[in-house]
Amino acid sequence: IKSNWVLSAAHCCEGKSEIFATFGDLSDNTILSDSNEYTLRSTTWINHPEYGNNSDGSSQNSDWCLIKFDEDILAADPEGKTRMACLPESEPEHGDACWVAGWGTTSSGGSMSRQLLSVGVNYMSQDYCVNKSFINQVLPDDICAGIPDLDGDAVIDGGKDACQGDSGGPLICPINGRAVLSGVVSRGNGCAWRGWPGIYSSVFSAKEWIKAII
Ligand code: ARG
Repeated sequence: IKSNWVLSAAHCCEGKSEIFATFGDLSDNTILSDSNEYTLRSTTWINHPEYGNNSDGSSQNSDWCLIKFDEDILAADPEGKTRMACLPESEPEHGDACWVAGWGTTSSGGSMSRQLLSVGVNYMSQDYCVNKSFINQVLPDDICAGIPDLDGDAVIDGGKDACQGDSGGPLICPINGRAVLSGVVSRGNGCAWRGWPGIYSSVFSAKEWIKAII
């Protein structure tokens, strides 16, 4: 999100003494080592102060971590292909098409993907999410995204989602032709289950904190 900063999830940074970020990576190196791939190390990161403190009734929300690097991330790219995502000017609109990407498991309890995968999910309003899912409450700093109730049974369909190992990864929504980082993969119940959309930390709701730090 900035020359020397990466945004991830607090639960990914928690308890670590060093963090490695790999850029330009599309596949497991046993399949193919991507020519553009490079790794940077960080020993400095900041979890959101409200993460884990239960002040709003959830110890799992405010799930953001800002990871700082000593070097300029784009300048370190051997092929100059790495790009920054834009920070959001607003929340997306209900129904907006977004994408989530990662190397996480391809089913709940399954094995990790050996290639970077992405899937299209719809951004959902808080009301829609609570009314059409089995989730009782969505706090303002969280976003639901997934496959809405297309079959008309009043419950979010599921079928496409992030999964374990995708945490900290991006929910990108194209807004006015820009790749906007609207969410950070945070949690879910199972993966792609009917009635259980993925939960993402809203980047817009953390924007003042992010701007103040970076
Ligand atoms: N907490 C998981 C992780 O650490 C991410 C789970 C996302 N789950 C989902 N159904 N969207 O990787």
